[in-house]
Amino acid sequence: MKKTLKVFAIIIGIVLVFLVYVQFTFKQKFEVPVTGIKASSDSATIAHGKYLVLGASHCYACHTNDSLRALKLKEPLMGGNVYKTPFGNFNIPNITMDKETGIGNFSDEQLARAIRYNVNHEGFAMAGFMSYNSMSDEDITAIISYLRTTTPVRNQVPEHDLNMLGKVIVRFLIKPYEEVQVSKVVPDSTAEYGKYFAYTLGQCNSCHTKRDKLGRFVGQPFAGGFEWDMPDAKYMSANLTPDDTTGRIAHWGEEVFIQRFRAGRLLEGSPMPWEGYQQISDRDLKALYKFFNSLEPVKNNTVTYVPKPKEPAIAEN
Ligand code: HEC
Ligand code: HEC
Repeated sequence: MKKTLKVFAIIIGIVLVFLVYVQFTFKQKFEVPVTGIKASSDSATIAHGKYLVLGASHCYACHTNDSLRALKLKEPLMGGNVYKTPFGNFNIPNITMDKETGIGNFSDEQLARAIRYNVNHEGFAMAGFMSYNSMSDEDITAIISYLRTTTPVRNQVPEHDLNMLGKVIVRFLIKPYEEVQVSKVVPDSTAEYGKYFAYTLGQCNSCHTKRDKLGRFVGQPFAGGFEWDMPDAKYMSANLTPDDTTGRIAHWGEEVFIQRFRAGRLLEGSPMPWEGYQQISDRDLKALYKFFNSLEPVKNNTVTYVPKPKEPAIAEN
């Protein structure tokens, strides 16, 4: 009996020491390569950056406060949204040019490293919300150049509030993106550029490929089936492969595909950032269309929208 107690006490002791160790060391600084990327004041570069930040790459969808989003404002990237996860709460940073509470005092290199390697301005590895790592030098340059033109908004966003499980995960599992393949692309309407757009610029794969609870890809690329339980309905990402019977766009001509994007949001609660994608240029939509049609057809019936019954207006007693 005494011996069991002793073993038990030792185990508790080890666990406590481990937790104290995690508490003090969970934030790890990482050295990542220098990108050498510098912001430009060229107006075409800034305009392309704006197209990416507020459109195709939809940075606004996370970095704009929800209350602003309800007003359909995509600027000013002031942060403040809270992502509640089983690992604790992540507070989305302010990426306006404010010097004290935003990115005003971060160097171009710090911003470029955040986008390419997923380390924040202090060198800490960030949780994998962003996966723009293979973006070309030109596109990262454009994004940073646009961010430099944003109106500074003072909004002090608190640090993430992680629980012990979150801290253990950050300490041992969260790493910067190390194996980065920088893309070299020629923007045009080919399937090849569409592939770059779908995986990197627009991150279509992050929702249109099925993932498990830890965010790992488990489905066939772009065959849809990833689900969301939203207040108004259950949503599922559509199968974008050209399967004759289950592919959502299999019978859409290129023009129908383009018009679907021009129409923007049709389902109020859909997680897809349609407001940004609505602005994708014809050329880029043509490239996406060619790319999706070049994929292997995958049979996967995706029921994208199942509305929930509305709450009765008068409660029944
Ligand atoms: C899916 C949500 C999401 C999208 C989309 C997104 N971000 Fe982020 N971003 C985050 C979160 C969450 C963090 C903080 C992560 C952490 O600290 O672990 C962050 C951190 C950052 C940081 C680091 C700030 C610092 O303190 O160093 C920068 C810079 C940034 N994002 C820029 C961008 C840009 C530019 C885009 C678009 C190309 C973008 N983000 C798109 C969620 C997002
Ligand atoms: C944040 C998740 C998310 C991202 C990112 C995303 N989608 Fe979707 N997509 C969805 C969901 C959910 C649906 C089903 C609900 C709807 O139609 O809005 C959907 C539906 C669609 C549809 C079918 C629309 C219809 O009317 O039937 C097309 C086409 C589509 N997505 C293409 C894309 C492309 C192209 C991209 C990248 C540029 C993309 N999606 C990025 C979640 C996403």
